[in-house]
Amino acid sequence: MAKVVVTGRIPEAALDKLRAEHEVDAWDGEQSISRAGLLAKVSGADALVTLLTERVDAELLDAAGEQLKVVSNVAVGYDNIVVADCSARGVRATNTPGVLTEATADIAFGLILMATRRLGEGERLIRSGTPWKWGMFFLLGSSLQGKTLGVVGMGGIGQATARRAKAFGMEVVYQSRSEIDPAIAAELGARRVELDELLAISDVVSLHCPYGPNTHHLIGAEQLAAMKPEAYLVNTARGPIVDEAALAQALRDGVIAGAGLDVFEKEPALHPDLLELENVALVPHLGSSTVETRTAMAVLACENTLAVLRGEDPATPVN
Ligand code: GLV
Repeated sequence: MAKVVVTGRIPEAALDKLRAEHEVDAWDGEQSISRAGLLAKVSGADALVTLLTERVDAELLDAAGEQLKVVSNVAVGYDNIVVADCSARGVRATNTPGVLTEATADIAFGLILMATRRLGEGERLIRSGTPWKWGMFFLLGSSLQGKTLGVVGMGGIGQATARRAKAFGMEVVYQSRSEIDPAIAAELGARRVELDELLAISDVVSLHCPYGPNTHHLIGAEQLAAMKPEAYLVNTARGPIVDEAALAQALRDGVIAGAGLDVFEKEPALHPDLLELENVALVPHLGSSTVETRTAMAVLACENTLAVLRGEDPATPVN
């Protein structure tokens, strides 16, 4: 029996899979575990199942010890893991692509609707008790039909968001490191463009690229200025892809019309100016937050761990 440390609360269905084969030590506090607590807890672990709130770096890997074989992140994004530090120690790292694609695209589209149709503003207005009645020019938003969605990062989630946009009558352009399957591009009528062109022609820009040194502040003051003044920015990927101070300034100055954010640069902190602005929809990192999706993510992460402990290849490795 190997020792598996789970660094946060995950669905029982996934824990049961681990418990059937190994000794499991799972943190079950309401709050995430402290760094010091985590460094102590991982000592002697053969496997770690980690949440995106935990940084997996040389310090943590060394605190676990040389017997550590695998780190399975319960997330598709793995910017919390220093993969090179894992590889240098012969530790496999895995993530959970695929199973959260549709749920995350739903939240991206939800934010697109919230921002363009001013749903958050409408809710706040009613809840504030402010008197209101139907009016020809009351809380007018912006239609999606016939507009252009620009998808930055055309992996599974970007494609799923584009599919929703097509159903809403939008044109799709995308920027991606590589060309997508031509059959999917044809189905979506999606055209690949450079980021400059995407920013200039899109009515909604939706971010779906991974976060890393190449995408840090990919969207800053210059890129926001390159967007149309009536356009919207939506981020369901990772906060630091956007320069949040520059975004707040652009929203305040009318450089763009609005934004929808599920992720934040210094999560869970927000740039304080965002809270003062009406033209930004804010939700707390809910991309994958359905019962079904979180269960599927945790099960996939645990299956990856079990595979490595059996000496097999994990289904979704990142190294
Ligand atoms: C969530 O943000 C994930 O990367 O799975």
